[in-house]
Amino acid sequence: MDSAKRVPLPFKIIPLEDEVQKKIAKDFAGNPNGLVSCNHWGFKFSATVTEKELEDMYNHPLDPRDVWVVTPPKCGTTWTQEMVWLIANDLDYEGAKTPFIPDRWSFLDVTGVLDKDQMIKAAPPASEDGAPEGPPDMAGDPNRPSPRFVKSHLPFSLNNPRLLDVCKVVYVARNPKDLCVSFYHHMRLIRFHDFLGDFELFVDYFMKDLTMESPYIEHMIEAWNLRHHPNLCFLFYEDMKKDMKTEIRKVVKFLGKDFTDEQVDKLAEHLHFDNFKNNPWVNAEHLKPLGLMHTDRGNFIRKGKTGDWKNYFTPEMNEKFDKWVAEKLKGTDLTFVQELEKQD
Ligand code: A3P
Repeated sequence: MDSAKRVPLPFKIIPLEDEVQKKIAKDFAGNPNGLVSCNHWGFKFSATVTEKELEDMYNHPLDPRDVWVVTPPKCGTTWTQEMVWLIANDLDYEGAKTPFIPDRWSFLDVTGVLDKDQMIKAAPPASEDGAPEGPPDMAGDPNRPSPRFVKSHLPFSLNNPRLLDVCKVVYVARNPKDLCVSFYHHMRLIRFHDFLGDFELFVDYFMKDLTMESPYIEHMIEAWNLRHHPNLCFLFYEDMKKDMKTEIRKVVKFLGKDFTDEQVDKLAEHLHFDNFKNNPWVNAEHLKPLGLMHTDRGNFIRKGKTGDWKNYFTPEMNEKFDKWVAEKLKGTDLTFVQELEKQD
């Protein structure tokens, strides 16, 4: 266990302007308190997060046996988590038959994403002995024994600053247009967000960095610049769609394992979208009875394609979005694949 001393949070939470806040609360019915901004990149959190919670995240205990998956939201986090967990656990498919969160993974920044008031409202009723059950504990106990598996949507600069010195981290990036489409559906599906507008309005929020845990491009640039760190394995969603076996082998090597071709084939099959979407342990089925999701707005594991953005962006939206992304990427050598000739 890394015994570094607790450090104070070097960031502050700053409220959004009243007008903006009111608009967010109206358009995202599941976030009636809106969002707050942090004075680092204007990173956005659910308005109910506290600086103490952010400081706890910043000081999350680290251990060299732990593995983290760090991504902006909707970049293939869940897909990557399942791959990482199975590789790290020597392909224990039996052990993988249990809800992903919280049994196998902790969701570090869950309090930064979900509105606490809404969580409490949606919690199951008090049990027979009168004890309130409360919302499901998705963050898990940070001090449970290692090896721990931690998912974080926070960028490196908001995570524990010693993270890469101590733990292995797998990072996944995705092209921002598919991320945006995926996030639009997610924000409609989850009752704690409950976006009521259309796609055009969502893109407007997205391009103003007024969506939960934005900005995403800065998040990806920061990780991209760290990609040669020996404790970081940087992946793209599009590469996983193009050739999953090659990406699996990368992670196998990164985690110090050695699997046969047959084992890699079987894992690729397990992770294939068609199987993955029917796997109850990863597709958040257990959250449906808790009322966290609308039941008539699709599934958490949704479409799994590169280039779905073409079904949503008009030429005008596309031009504007491309300019916005290009501006953010100026001076970096990070580029995104927008479509694939062949994807499985
Ligand atoms: P779409 O909404 O474009 O389908 P996250 O886990 O970070 O929330 O990412 C969710 C996105 O990853 C969704 O994208 C989801 O469908 C996609 N995804 C999940 N499992 C996948 C798989 N096995 N293959 C391809 N894409 C997958």
